[in-house]
Amino acid sequence: MKNKKILVVGATGRVGREMLSILSEVGLPAQNVVPVASERSIGKSLPYGRTALEVRSINSVNFSDYDYALFSAGSAVSAKYAPKVAESGCIVVDNTSFFRMKEDVPLIVPEINFDALERYNSRIISNPNCSTIQMVMALKPLHDTFGLKEVVVSTYQATSGAGQKGVDELMEQTELVLHGKSTTAHHFKRQIAFNVIPQIDEFANSAYTKEELKMMNETKKILNKSDIIITATCVRVPVIVGHAVSVFARFEKPVDIQLAHQVLSDFSGVKIIDNPGQYEYATPIDCASKNDVYVSRIRKHPDAENAMSFWCVADNVRKGAALNAIQIVQRLVAQQ
Ligand code: A2P
Repeated sequence: MKNKKILVVGATGRVGREMLSILSEVGLPAQNVVPVASERSIGKSLPYGRTALEVRSINSVNFSDYDYALFSAGSAVSAKYAPKVAESGCIVVDNTSFFRMKEDVPLIVPEINFDALERYNSRIISNPNCSTIQMVMALKPLHDTFGLKEVVVSTYQATSGAGQKGVDELMEQTELVLHGKSTTAHHFKRQIAFNVIPQIDEFANSAYTKEELKMMNETKKILNKSDIIITATCVRVPVIVGHAVSVFARFEKPVDIQLAHQVLSDFSGVKIIDNPGQYEYATPIDCASKNDVYVSRIRKHPDAENAMSFWCVADNVRKGAALNAIQIVQRLVAQQ
């Protein structure tokens, strides 16, 4: 990894900054990283470990100079530039939804389906949706053990999932409300401060939002099982970092809760915090800046056959986006 050259597209954004922070943590030298953002940010300085990097324009870089490009600048930028970058020989890990469901593009959570890369011949690799990543991290070991059939999931998604502008809107509105002033919603469809909003992304049809369909479709692609019945309700909550998901899942086989605990805690990247008697469970604040996905409130359904529920929390900017992308790169490098 240390001798690889990496382009970070969307580097000034919430996810882009986290990517820079993780790349410096894993020891990639500053001269091997180039941050790119919109024309507005050219020349800005971004922290990189103990040093700083200067933001460049995407049009000023020669793509073939890079081994990997991490995209997190929105679907329009990925649609326009990722194919050109891939054509130059550089491998793209794209954090937007643009390529995720394309048949010839792999959708990868390294702990779950890194092997699926063998089935593809693509220099573009998609990083899944943030809520999907944390949910499938918990579902995978349970699926392998009991055979997943149905999922009912509700999400509690932090404002950072909408980028820096989402967090800024929460902060500004919170201050206005605390000063007794009225608020105007810009990015979100309703006031997010002191509220919850049952809409993330646009409505794809009269019933489901695009975010909900992402969770439903991406889960099937990652687990390579098209007949799982999933329904999702995605909700924005006034939290800065850390998505939570509440899952009800039904399986082929009877659920043994002790075994569920064991397979979850044996799964790399998952940790259990589940001691309700002592009020021990994961909350977004506990999970901010952590790499793992936390599972709590694991319980068998008293009536429904072969069914269980759980609560799952992760840092959406880290495992839900930046970390997952960098883990893909690390695994690719290790394989060479
Ligand atoms: P900029 O800061 O210059 O606008 P977030 O999701 O947190 O809002 O971040 C979006 C990221 O995508 C930012 O780094 C933003 O840069 C970047 N971006 C937006 N438009 C472009 C573009 N046309 N080319 C490159 N980067 C872009």
